[in-house]
Amino acid sequence: MEKLKIANIPGDGIGTEVVAAATDVLKAVSEIHGGLTFEFTDFPWNCHYYLKHGAMMPEDGMDQLTQFDGIFLGAVGDPNLVPDHVSLWGLLIKIRREFEQSINLRPAKVIKGIRSPLLNPKDFDIMVVRENSEGEYSSIGGNMYQGDDEIAIQNAVFSRKATERAMRFAFELAQKRSSRVTSATKSNGIIYSMPFWDSVFEDVAKDYPHIETDSRHIDALAAFFVTQPDRFDVIVASNLFGDILTDLGAAIMGSIGIAPAANINVNGKYPSMFEPVHGSAPDIAGKGMANPIGQIWTAKMMLDHFGEEELGRVLLDTVESVTSDGFLTRDIGGKHTTKEVTDEIIARLKVR
Ligand code: NAI
Ligand code: MG
Repeated sequence: MEKLKIANIPGDGIGTEVVAAATDVLKAVSEIHGGLTFEFTDFPWNCHYYLKHGAMMPEDGMDQLTQFDGIFLGAVGDPNLVPDHVSLWGLLIKIRREFEQSINLRPAKVIKGIRSPLLNPKDFDIMVVRENSEGEYSSIGGNMYQGDDEIAIQNAVFSRKATERAMRFAFELAQKRSSRVTSATKSNGIIYSMPFWDSVFEDVAKDYPHIETDSRHIDALAAFFVTQPDRFDVIVASNLFGDILTDLGAAIMGSIGIAPAANINVNGKYPSMFEPVHGSAPDIAGKGMANPIGQIWTAKMMLDHFGEEELGRVLLDTVESVTSDGFLTRDIGGKHTTKEVTDEIIARLKVR
């Protein structure tokens, strides 16, 4: 029997509500599938913890986490208690960096019963593979002079290693999906890093002759998301381009409350971390109205990651059956609570 040890870090605000909901859903999944069990351990690391201890996690916090197969995180941040840069860098970003989670994986697709702001989203169903360790989000640069002469310089960093790693991940993923990979580039305007990006893409593509490839400038790609959303499948993008594209993807789905994500450690040295795209939503925290689907879909990504793709499919199908029958939270135009939506998903999982 396969037993997965999962570190739950619910975090702040609605993080605690949606992680509890998705954990119950995962327990129901393991009930319908005898071969898989989860052992969850809760870590109460959040802004309240910071106020008490002066840090977002204990000194040996990272060591504690290394013993787990995966990390299931809700959301971090409560700007009324702790400044955002302190809470995010002390927990979320610390884990992403120190555990070398170099790929950020973000699916987006239209879910039955949830209205997209696009009139005709057709079969929008994509997976963005975002480089998560370098690119435009680098700490190389500086400031000079003051006043009218002030200068800010920010360097983008593209290594062959990280670029190739993201691209190989995308091609491997495409083999399990529609066998198409689109590269997000901007080599007409950014004349060093992006032609390099293109050439690495061409090199990697040679190892996957059966995969159809396509390279699009990021501006045109953004427009195509709106005009021809069904045209794309797997997209590989740099840190910044991927960040922007995935917010657009979440918008096309209809709410940030349903968008999932995974931070993948590809070298196998440390656990990967699974977290929805949304934050702690202080405006609705404690009211029981948070949409649990982002966290539950994130749980599906965790199942996929551990090779339980069939279970992942069952889980997402069940979510879609629930949304298409009108069990919707307020952010997507319904009036159901977190608990009602979660209970309905669990009830349907049990009769499958
Ligand atoms: P947010 O994602 O928390 O909220 C933005 C808007 O979306 C709010 O109106 C909120 O009510 C709504 N929303 C978000 N998730 C929802 C859900 N599941 N169901 C229904 N409605 C939902 O972003 P915001 O307000 O900018 O940030 C709040 C806090 O969260 C800050 O401290 C921020 O730093 C942190 N944050 C943390 C993230 C993480 O842990 N990965 C990501 C983004 C923000
Ligand atoms: Mg973003």
